Amino acid sequence: MNARTYAQAIVTSETLEGKLVPPPELDLDDPEPPLRLAAPGRPANLAIVPGRSARVPPIAGMPDPAQRARILHALANHELQAIELFAWALLAFPAAPLAFRRGLVAILADEQRHLQLYRDRLAALGMTFGALPVTGHFWNKLDHLGTPLEFVCAMGLTFENANLDFAGDYAVAARACGDHATAAALAQVHEDEIAHVHFAWVWLQKLAGDRDPWEAYLASVRFPLGPKRARGAVLDREARRRAGFSEAFIDALDAVAPTRPSGEARDGFNLSNVRSPTSGNHETGDRGPNRNPLDDAKTR
Ligand SMILES: [Fe+2]
Ligand SMILES: [Fe+2]
Repeated sequence: MNARTYAQAIVTSETLEGKLVPPPELDLDDPEPPLRLAAPGRPANLAIVPGRSARVPPIAGMPDPAQRARILHALANHELQAIELFAWALLAFPAAPLAFRRGLVAILADEQRHLQLYRDRLAALGMTFGALPVTGHFWNKLDHLGTPLEFVCAMGLTFENANLDFAGDYAVAARACGDHATAAALAQVHEDEIAHVHFAWVWLQKLAGDRDPWEAYLASVRFPLGPKRARGAVLDREARRRAGFSEAFIDALDAVAPTRPSGEARDGFNLSNVRSPTSGNHETGDRGPNRNPLDDAKTR
């Protein structure tokens, strides 16, 4: 099968099972012009809604299985969008180097596995993916994805880079409340994300020529994306080292104060606040220190 046929089917499929068809052996050569699809196909129960219609509990809600399910539903939505956007990139960048396109396919397959991991955890908590409204956090950033370099800077070095902190925090929170299966799923996502960020790091350097990587990154992202959105409150430096970042790049990221999509400062997550399942309704703590680290509900 050629990559265009496969990628178009993934983006436009109107069933979840259609999004989860693993890539077969693909012919990555594509002489056709770029195709920039404006929106994905979706089943009715996964139609994209504005962020205000899809509130997500803060990380402090982890001990409550009902809130944990809602958090996992939001994480599954990020995986669904990642699947679609890596397929979208195959269509948008037909002339990119074959090694770049091969990497997009490999990451797409990982994102499919991640979505299935979260679907399994949702099922264990009695929820189906699609039971709650979903936002279009990544789809709303298509204007930041003009070139392969912009794509790796937005997806890999901003969203996935930040997830090196968020997935780690969520895994710790899930383990702290005794849900080891959810913690294991999050740890797997964290592990794979290191490889995804490594892909972006490698291509940042290849595509930026001999520019300094940090300067090239800054020049390739623009507001509201950028380094403030590329990390959580506490930087997992070891994960960045494993992704291959130079110490200078890690130091530059460490020196940036993280912000939420809303532009507010991002405070640290405090494990002591997620240990007790009896500490009340955390959802009212929306402006507190343990708000949902991914909080795409705040973006629009
Ligand atoms: Fe993922
Ligand atoms: Fe990823």
